[in-house]
Amino acid sequence: MIDTENVTCDTCAAPGGVVDASDEASRSWPRVDIEANPYKADFPLLAGNPGIAFLDSAATAQRPAAVLEAQTRFYETMNANPLRGLYSLSVEATEAIARVRAQVARVIGAPSALDVVFTRNTSESLNLVAKSFAPTVLEPGDEIAITIMEHHSNLIPWQQAAASAGATLVYLYPTKTGELTDDEIASKVGERTKIVATTQVSNVLGVEVPVAKLGRAVHAHGGYLVVDGAQSVPHMPVDVEAIGADFFAFSAHKALGPMGIGVLWGRHELLEQMPPMLTGGEMIDSVSEQGAVWAPVPEKFEAGTQDAAGIYATGAALDYLVNQVGYEAIQAREQALVHHLMGEITQLPFVDVIGSIYWDRHHGVVSFNVRGIHPHDVASIMDMDGVCIRAGHHCAQPLLTWLGVENLACCRASVAFYNDKHDIDAFIAGLKRVWSTFNG
Ligand code: ALA
Repeated sequence: MIDTENVTCDTCAAPGGVVDASDEASRSWPRVDIEANPYKADFPLLAGNPGIAFLDSAATAQRPAAVLEAQTRFYETMNANPLRGLYSLSVEATEAIARVRAQVARVIGAPSALDVVFTRNTSESLNLVAKSFAPTVLEPGDEIAITIMEHHSNLIPWQQAAASAGATLVYLYPTKTGELTDDEIASKVGERTKIVATTQVSNVLGVEVPVAKLGRAVHAHGGYLVVDGAQSVPHMPVDVEAIGADFFAFSAHKALGPMGIGVLWGRHELLEQMPPMLTGGEMIDSVSEQGAVWAPVPEKFEAGTQDAAGIYATGAALDYLVNQVGYEAIQAREQALVHHLMGEITQLPFVDVIGSIYWDRHHGVVSFNVRGIHPHDVASIMDMDGVCIRAGHHCAQPLLTWLGVENLACCRASVAFYNDKHDIDAFIAGLKRVWSTFNG
């Protein structure tokens, strides 16, 4: 096994992964006992299916019992439409949502809970910014800068915003290992850049984008920074003020919460200047025959009955993630898992890692291909051994095109703190089985 603490470029080049130009001679990783798994028992699906190695947490996380119980508890004990009603059940539901709003604000370092908007998912949050905010600031000739690493959720809305405003969509290209250089930032973010929209962590390369640097670059010219935190919030502490975000989006379901709950945080004055994207119930102050006055932020953006039980369960998810496990433990364990995975996968001469082969450049996500074998076949064969990985374009077709990935498809293993060494070992054994299935 490669000792990635003392690895050299030459050693790294052998298995096919791209080698970082900025090689560091010495790297250390947290010595966490990944044989033990103090978390699995909290996750009913994992505890009930010991034969499964779930390595697709970047697509959606597993949920601890506390989250499932919270969802049920809402319906059993406080079910009423959170309409700021005048009877106690409705008041309780309303207050429960307000508490989770405040909790979300604390988790992402937002100064005010009232600037936290609940949506259905990150895609909807980013669409809200692109459709409601962007038209208030974009003028013909302006530029919107995004990285080539964006998920389609943070790419297509900007294609559309640019087209409707007569603006240009400009791409920032990283090195092949996903590093955005200062030169690239300086050459792409300039006077004409009105908006920089970027992921904080790539869902394909697993690399962390220097969002604060991008924020400083766009703010220097009076522009705005939009951050997609779908892949960061589950894995690392986030502080929207420290990174200089003007908008920040994430989904509950990747952070142990239910599917169907998204978050958009925005700077208050920007949310104020935006029209709602959806109109109807619960987002108004008053309505006349010919017009309506919107409710204040955030209700202005929350038309119709919200998934109150889902929001309540999101509170339980964030409590488990941040308070019970904690980011320090999450980061240490996930780094140890990726360290083990990378050490093993780079020993397989038939596997090409996409992006950096250094474990510390990956935030839980490692993409790869098995030479000559379609990723769909790889994932299907791995599934026979209970190993769950994602295969396909990962909603990042422009990135895979730019990287020159064959068939515009690759495999992806993504870890969470509830994984253990056995999951990684099953994954490596599965890759060997895939290879021998096709190569005898
Ligand atoms: N956005 C999710 C992923 O990257 C679905 O897998």
